Amino acid sequence: MIKHLKYILTGPKIGPDMYFTHWLLFFKPLRILFQKKKIKKIGENSEIRPYCTIIGTNNVIIGKNVIIPPGTTLVTLPSNKEAIINIEDDVLLGPNVAIYCSTHNFENIKVPIKSQGYKVASVNLKSGCWIGINSVILPGVTIGKNSVVGANSLVNRDIPDYCIAVGSPAKVIRNLNTENEK
Ligand SMILES: CC(C)(COP(=O)(O)OP(=O)(O)OC[C@H]1O[C@@H](n2cnc3c(N)ncnc32)[C@H](O)[C@@H]1OP(=O)(O)O)[C@@H](O)C(=O)NCCC(=O)NCCS
Repeated sequence: MIKHLKYILTGPKIGPDMYFTHWLLFFKPLRILFQKKKIKKIGENSEIRPYCTIIGTNNVIIGKNVIIPPGTTLVTLPSNKEAIINIEDDVLLGPNVAIYCSTHNFENIKVPIKSQGYKVASVNLKSGCWIGINSVILPGVTIGKNSVVGANSLVNRDIPDYCIAVGSPAKVIRNLNTENEK
C-alpha cells in the first residue's frame, strides 16, 4: 500500500488512473509542487491540468506559459533518455492532443507486436506554435515556431516555422514567412 502510494506521488506518470494525482492538480499550491516534482523541467506560469495523461514525466520538458489541458496525452518511455517531449514557451495545445515519442516495432511476424519493443524519437514543439483539437503528433516530429496544426491532423513529418499545416497526414497549406516577405 505504501509502495503504491509512493509510486503515485513520485513515479513517472500522471493520469486519471493514478488517484490523488488529479486531486492534487486541482489546488494551485499543491499543483505547483506536484508538477515540479514530476516533470523534468517546467517553466513559470505553466499548468498541468487535471485529467491529462502523461507517461514518462521524467522525459517531458515544458517551457513558460503553457497549459496542458484535460484530455491531453503525452507519452515518452520513462527508461529512455532519448525520448524527450520538449514543449517550448507559449505553446498552445487544443483539447485532446496526443503526442507520442515511441512507436511499436512490428517487423517480426513470429512475435506479438506488444513484445517487439519500441522505436523512439523526441518530439519538439517550438515556441508559440498552436496544435488544434484532436491532433496526433508522432515520434521524431518538430513543429516550427508559431506554426499552426489544424484540428484533427496527424503529423508524421516536421512542420517548418511560421507554417499552417492540416490533414492526415498533415501538409503545409500556407507559409506565413514567405507571404510576409511579398
Ligand atoms: C488550420 C486553421 C487555423 C485554418 O484556418 P483558416 O486559415 O481560416 O483556413 P480556411 O478555413 O480558409 O481553410 C483553408 C483550407 O484548409 C482546409 N482546412 C482548414 N482546416 C483544416 C483541418 N483542420 N483539416 C483539414 N483541412 C483543413 C480548408 O478546408 C481549406 O481547404 P480548401 O482551400 O481546399 O477549401 C483552422 O481550420 C483550424 O483547424 N483551427 C483549429 C481550431 C481548434 O483546434 N481550436 C481548438 C481551440 S485551441
